[in-house]
Amino acid sequence: MIVIRKLKQIYSSCQKYKNAGKRIGFVATMGTLHPGHLSLIKKARKENDIVIVSIFVNPSQFAPSEDFKKYPRNLKKDIVLCKKEGADIIFAPEAKEMYPAGYRTFVDVSELSQCLCGKSRPMHFRGVATVVLKLFNLVQPDTAYFGQKDAQQAVIIKKMVADLNVPVLIKVMPIVREGDGLAMSSRNRYLSPEERDEAVVLSRALKEAKMMIKQGERNTDIIIQRMRGIIMRKKIAKIDYISIVYLDGLNMVSAISDKCLIALAVHIGKTRLIDNAIIDLKKNG
Ligand code: PAF
Repeated sequence: MIVIRKLKQIYSSCQKYKNAGKRIGFVATMGTLHPGHLSLIKKARKENDIVIVSIFVNPSQFAPSEDFKKYPRNLKKDIVLCKKEGADIIFAPEAKEMYPAGYRTFVDVSELSQCLCGKSRPMHFRGVATVVLKLFNLVQPDTAYFGQKDAQQAVIIKKMVADLNVPVLIKVMPIVREGDGLAMSSRNRYLSPEERDEAVVLSRALKEAKMMIKQGERNTDIIIQRMRGIIMRKKIAKIDYISIVYLDGLNMVSAISDKCLIALAVHIGKTRLIDNAIIDLKKNG
């Protein structure tokens, strides 16, 4: 496995693989890899000849008030983990090459980027879509793997790829959870031991919602109300949003039908956590 830092070098290496007819699988990350990321690398390893993992804490997806500076970084450990999973290349560019002075171009997947997490993080998905398209242009993967944990991000990337005719297949892999249900996230490491215990309330509220739907509840207000009740019992938790939306357009759903997404963001102390569940009535209603 090699680590490449330069844009020219990753592009020429990937071109070589493509010309030799190799299938490239790609996992974009911001590093500090956890089992959620590793599940994506494993899947990519199974399905491709060459596996490329990018590690880049992307400044354009953080607002000035957010945690860009203190976002955990641990390239040494990430290299060991990627090697163990059989990745071929880590691409770890420098911000000054990805966004040189005078950089001006951004990708805005409108509407999908303004709802849910976009309400409290208005520029976030513009930064995500921009960096992901730049990475796709450099790596030119056949398939790229993203986690369902960032459900809105996955919807936006799929839409960007469709709208801009980017020749890459997007695969979205299930959320990987801790034993008690907490969704794996690099930000979990910000939690104090007490907050860590309380953070399980996100997945507990989702579990309750799924149970209600299984028992026949279809009114989303009632489901959301119950979820709010569960979360608000924890003093340390402050709800950003709980929404039930259609999976494709992310529009609000008033009565559960077919395929929808229950998504929530909750501050546990100073840490903002997200989680979600897909409801597919045909499959699991
Ligand atoms: O999901 C993430 O870690 C990031 O948003 C991504 C896709 C690597 C873009 O910076």
